[in-house]
Amino acid sequence: MAKTQAAITGVHGYVPDYILTNQELETLVDTSDEWITSRTGVKERRILKGEGKGTSVMASKAVKGLLEKTAVKADEIDLIICATVTPDMVFPATANLIAANVGAVNAFSYDISAACSGFLYALTTASQFIETGLYKKVIVVGADKMSSIIDYEDRTTCIIFGDGAGAVLLEPSLEEVGIVDSIHKSDGTGVEFLKMKAGGSQYPASHETVDNKWHYARQDGATVFKFAVTNMADYAAKIMERNNLTSDDVAWLVPHQANKRIIDATANRMGVTEDKVMMNIERYGNTTAGTIPLLLWDYESQLKKGDNLVMAAFGGGFTWGAIYLKWAYDSK
Ligand code: UT7
Repeated sequence: MAKTQAAITGVHGYVPDYILTNQELETLVDTSDEWITSRTGVKERRILKGEGKGTSVMASKAVKGLLEKTAVKADEIDLIICATVTPDMVFPATANLIAANVGAVNAFSYDISAACSGFLYALTTASQFIETGLYKKVIVVGADKMSSIIDYEDRTTCIIFGDGAGAVLLEPSLEEVGIVDSIHKSDGTGVEFLKMKAGGSQYPASHETVDNKWHYARQDGATVFKFAVTNMADYAAKIMERNNLTSDDVAWLVPHQANKRIIDATANRMGVTEDKVMMNIERYGNTTAGTIPLLLWDYESQLKKGDNLVMAAFGGGFTWGAIYLKWAYDSK
């Protein structure tokens, strides 16, 4: 009997209208378009403007668009998982707000916190509910309003990050398409190199935490870069090996968009040529949990049923991993 696999049957995304260019950043910090472009590949990123607008605003737009596109009614959704490190509030979960906004009245919903690996962690988690036959329609959202935790006086972070959201619908398939394999890892000793220190239970907001600028994401870029290159490439290669995939078998590498140099290193290690590498870092920067679903949204029209996709990510935690997926549909 054919095995039930969790297939992505639709994808949609949302990015805010405001474009923060490298030229505008040149007016905020000591940097240059040339440095940012050559060291990261980013040319511009989107920023969600407006008082009181959180991550759920972008995520809800992505999910509403997904429901319209797939002609699925909101009340048919069983579960919504939102990967984010910039929830609207510490609690309730942003996924709860999204479910309410889109009218998913029969769903339960929760968030997953795994920084830049969040979407892949959430996808693997969601796939278990489908493979066991428990649920039929699960939505996985990756969304972050990184501008809410970025210090626009810190040139080592403000040049990379942007805001955005992407969402996919997962449904059971017996056609040998969908998620085939996944491997994930985390290592909490990486905390020192990439974190937002305050705002949790260790350092709740106080005058001191605000004065010390502890409510911003900080990273030791060079160390994170080193770990990212090694682990993203290792895990992408590992998932290819254990599924007997050669570089010719891989139709697309879908890499987290943190830095073009990390993406190039991963592609080289896999032996995958540039034309097979999904990339939109130049337009959106690093949207953390949003990068991979936004790539799928951008490239959807080029994907064919049966295409082998290898997704790979690395991020704060540290967290990392890779997923091997067979694309489930031809674009209409
Ligand atoms: O997705 C989440 C995980 N995050 C990542 O994967 C990010 C990984 N790290 C990176 O992408 C890179 O490390 C950065 C883009 C953050 C930095 O690039 P780098 O090539 O590693 O630069 P660096 O930190 O080694 O700094 C090199 C020089 C330094 O100057 P000195 O000390 O050599 O004089 C920095 O101060 O570049 C300087 N620098 C800048 N110069 C102009 C750092 N940021 C900037 C800037 N503009 N924005």
